[in-house]
Amino acid sequence: MRVLGIETSCDETAAAVYDGERGLLGARLFSQVALHAEYGGVVPELASRDHVRKLVPLIEGVLGDAGLELGDLDGIAYTAGPGLAGALLVGASVAQGLAWSRGLPAVGVHHLEGHLLAPMLEPEPPEFPFLALLVSGGHTLLASVAAQGDYQILGSSLDDAAGEAFDKTAKLLGLPYPGGPELARIAESGRAGQFHFPRPMLDRPGLDFSFSGLKTAVVVAVRGLVLDDQVRADVARAFQEAVVDTLEAKCARALEATGLRTLVVAGGVGANRMLRARLKALGQRTRVRVYYPRPEFCTDNAAMIAYAGHQRLAAGQRDSLAIRAVARWPINQLRPPGEHAA
Ligand code: KG4
Ligand code: ZN
Repeated sequence: MRVLGIETSCDETAAAVYDGERGLLGARLFSQVALHAEYGGVVPELASRDHVRKLVPLIEGVLGDAGLELGDLDGIAYTAGPGLAGALLVGASVAQGLAWSRGLPAVGVHHLEGHLLAPMLEPEPPEFPFLALLVSGGHTLLASVAAQGDYQILGSSLDDAAGEAFDKTAKLLGLPYPGGPELARIAESGRAGQFHFPRPMLDRPGLDFSFSGLKTAVVVAVRGLVLDDQVRADVARAFQEAVVDTLEAKCARALEATGLRTLVVAGGVGANRMLRARLKALGQRTRVRVYYPRPEFCTDNAAMIAYAGHQRLAAGQRDSLAIRAVARWPINQLRPPGEHAA
């Protein structure tokens, strides 16, 4: 089965084609970073309007890359949520319009399920069950994944998501939007031991996270300082260490509590080099296999949506023609592909 995947949940317009036998046939993405940069964050209305402009040409482009036409598709998958309502509606409308006009089945995919399953696109995919650390701009969670659609949340962030903490701290340091990757980049030239920030909630049992206090600690630490490039890099390094230490410690705790031997790291912060290196080392120490998507499939993309949707469509799941855009959608409400009513 050959499935077109569409992603428009936030500030990335993306389309991809996944084939059950041949794997990923093509993936294209247009980032709206430049559009939102002057506002220092995503402006939902501008995001929606730009998705309207970019999506159909992107779909044409990705089909062209794969040497395919619309008639070669067997199904359509689109991100139905969670995300910005107006942005989601663009992808949902185009997907359902295409599906209706071509008589194809369509399915609305949960954006976080897409992230969790993104490592399945790699040459050596993980096997179920696994522990998943999902660290994106909107979510931070640890989940026990028994199968696609069978998610047990073990812990989540009580306030800011990990990516959000990166972005807000970057903004405090005067770094250009989007701050997370930029903060990680300058952290590489930071000196060790210049600043020390708390490791939130490590002293308490449990698997929840909290990152807003860390941001406050950064505000306090830089008050009155001249923020030259070196000081910025030093703060960035200490901040990144605090976040990565916390994520690593909670992963270790969750692996121990569940006895799971496989760890999957997904979401935008999963592209962070220090986090990847530290979790790789944790895996080596504890004999746990650690999997990541390639960096471009850690951040938002349509390949993960095409894959997750393919699995559901291939199992017979079909949505009605109603256009679904769910801004809030808890991931533990999902069911495995085979368990959905046709
Ligand atoms: O998964 P994603 O693309 O979008 C959401 O679904 O939220 O994640 C974006 C988040 C942003 O907060 C961004 O700053 C962060 O991931 N991010 C990073 C890095 N690359 C992206 N954070 C730290 N280090 C990175 N290298
Ligand atoms: Zn995402």
